[in-house]
Amino acid sequence: MSEVHHIIHPLIQHKLTLMRNRQASTSSFRRLLNELSALMAYEITRDMPMQEVEVETPLETTTGQIIDGKKLALVSILRAGNGLLDGMLSIVPGARVGHIGLYRDPKTLQAVEYYFKMPSHMEERDVIVVDPMLATGNSAVAALDKIRALNPRSIKFMCLLTCPEGIATLHKAHPDVPIFTAAIDRGLNEKGYIVPGLGDAGDRIFGTL
Ligand code: URA
Repeated sequence: MSEVHHIIHPLIQHKLTLMRNRQASTSSFRRLLNELSALMAYEITRDMPMQEVEVETPLETTTGQIIDGKKLALVSILRAGNGLLDGMLSIVPGARVGHIGLYRDPKTLQAVEYYFKMPSHMEERDVIVVDPMLATGNSAVAALDKIRALNPRSIKFMCLLTCPEGIATLHKAHPDVPIFTAAIDRGLNEKGYIVPGLGDAGDRIFGTL
């Protein structure tokens, strides 16, 4: 069973509620998304591998722990996933970034791939796949199928919002991939949008409504 980490920190919930508001401007939506993704990155990287290094303080030499950031790869599901990158990279600037381009066929709601570019040595990396909305789960599963074929050390999935249908679909295909989300909404409407949701995340991030 996929673990679902529902992150209910007050700052995250506050910002998410502001983002749901249809009146939020493109610039505030984007700013809130940056802040929220940085806060979520804090939680999702909790178990990141560390390495011990020597450090010279002004007084003496000691040892300390640092994050092995180069081993982390963020993989954005285009295009809305890109909205999560800046916030996350502000917390883990050493992470490499991959992109996978998928669009939803509006009739079948199935994912169709049009772009795939990953960092090198994926087999040595811990991967966090990012997409603000885990809705039907079809794009997430298609992305995870491709990424898993590269045999990374671990895979996590991060979204802002999901619903029972999205969790079930992802869980069925990739039961070992933990999901990190700020909300689990009621469900999907007939167009495959999460309700109550926040609308089309890509359109709201890029102002293409
Ligand atoms: N993609 C979105 O942007 N919003 C949804 O509600 C579902 C999928």
